[in-house]
Amino acid sequence: MTAIGAPQLPRGPRWIRHLDSARARVQKPRFIVEGRLTRMVGLTLEAVGCHAPVGARCLVEGPEGQDIEAEVVGFAGEKLFLMPIGRVQGIVPNARVTPTGEAYDVPVGPALLGRILDGSGNPLDGKGPITHTHRAPLTGRSINPMARQPIREPLDVGIRSINALMSVGRGQRMGLFAGSGVGKSVLLGMMTKYTTADVIVVGLIGERGREVKEFIENILGEAGMARAVVIASPADDSPVMRLHGAALATSVAEYFRDQGRNVLLLMDSLTRYAQAQREVALAIGEPPATKGYPPSVFARIPQLVERAGNGDSGGGSITAFYTVLTEGDDQQDPIADAARAILDGHVVLSRELAEAGHYPAIDVEASISRAMTEIVDPEHLAAALRFKRIYAAYRQHRDLISVGAYQPGSDPQVDEAIALYPQLTRFLQQGMDEPTSLADSIAALRALRPPEPAPDAAPAAAAPTGGNPYASG
Ligand SMILES: Nc1ncnc2c1ncn2[C@@H]1O[C@H](COP(=O)(O)OP(=O)(O)OP(=O)(O)O)[C@@H](O)[C@H]1O
Ligand SMILES: [Mg+2]
Repeated sequence: MTAIGAPQLPRGPRWIRHLDSARARVQKPRFIVEGRLTRMVGLTLEAVGCHAPVGARCLVEGPEGQDIEAEVVGFAGEKLFLMPIGRVQGIVPNARVTPTGEAYDVPVGPALLGRILDGSGNPLDGKGPITHTHRAPLTGRSINPMARQPIREPLDVGIRSINALMSVGRGQRMGLFAGSGVGKSVLLGMMTKYTTADVIVVGLIGERGREVKEFIENILGEAGMARAVVIASPADDSPVMRLHGAALATSVAEYFRDQGRNVLLLMDSLTRYAQAQREVALAIGEPPATKGYPPSVFARIPQLVERAGNGDSGGGSITAFYTVLTEGDDQQDPIADAARAILDGHVVLSRELAEAGHYPAIDVEASISRAMTEIVDPEHLAAALRFKRIYAAYRQHRDLISVGAYQPGSDPQVDEAIALYPQLTRFLQQGMDEPTSLADSIAALRALRPPEPAPDAAPAAAAPTGGNPYASG
């Protein structure tokens, strides 16, 4: 027998193809297996009988039928461990636990600009519901490291000393290392207002609730909020909510990046994020490793931070600043160590400078931008290195100079440093209401010259106060 027309596949493969296409047309039934609560210790809920993967969203039925949202954070044998997202009042023994079967996704879209959200994406500003246009996964999408655009262009962050001495590139991820009360919030607020980034996303994670209002009303103001999205999950939120807050801020930044915008993501703070993960991990029995932090904390930090950076296409970028709390100059702090290893540079704020009224209290000697050599021109780089050399020379001889024990003429570099020091400190200081641009910052750096009449033996005066010649409007 001879076949006429198109050659036919043998019978076996034909059947397989037919079955495959039939399988594709049949929707997989979703079985939702409910369970019940057997135990609650602290914030950890234990449920038996329900089938849900780690990270799944579940609803725990309250006594009056109201549902309490909880996330699966681990399991042991038949037991699932869950953590509530919101309040835990009203949870009763044997309550029904229903997996929702939906992944966590969050609202994103241009309508978010100017809005303040909680860790779940609900508005906190009383300006009504958010008419978002898209939903994005909370966990983001991973980018092939080979496809990421390199850091090439500088980003104007609006802070003179950072722009000039530790220039930040679009897509760079920086740490802001500081103790409490040395001016982190003010510095982040200044960047929000004065940067040339298209969109600013601010994540306030695990800080005091009072600070959220203060930051938005006193530091950002109307002008700062116009192109900003603020996500606030203060310290009294559940640890899962705080983790979600940081992830949500990153998802919002990713959305704008994928629209081709240059985003500045400011996360305050990475330490509180790590502490939230520590609370979750310890509660479900993970053993603490370094200074009470379980190993999963050190896996979580890169997962969050790696989501920032340049995109793979479309030209958008997420330049990010993560604040890291360092108390008492503790260089052994494991979170500071982990952050330093994964970030592309750090800005260190010094308590000594803040106490002396030198703001922003950036310790120029301890701060570095690892991408600077890639993004600035050689003259700018040379001027920045010269600044750092002169500044370091003065700081090293400061004690001698201040007691008058330094003999002018014994070291030309120190002589130059003494003559220039007042200019250097004035250059580094910047008032809260004083914007500055990248071009002005570089011009001011290049303009630093010793005063014309050759410096005599008089030691340099203390940091001058009063008008700042570098103010640009
Ligand atoms: N550029 C500046 N010019 C003048 N004063 C400043 C400046 N930056 C900070 N300060 C002063 O420092 C104080 C503390 O700043 P800020 O609240 O930003 O610190 P913080 O590090 O965020 O503190 P916390 O750890 O409590 O969150 C401010 O109230 C303000 O008085
Ligand atoms: Mg603060």
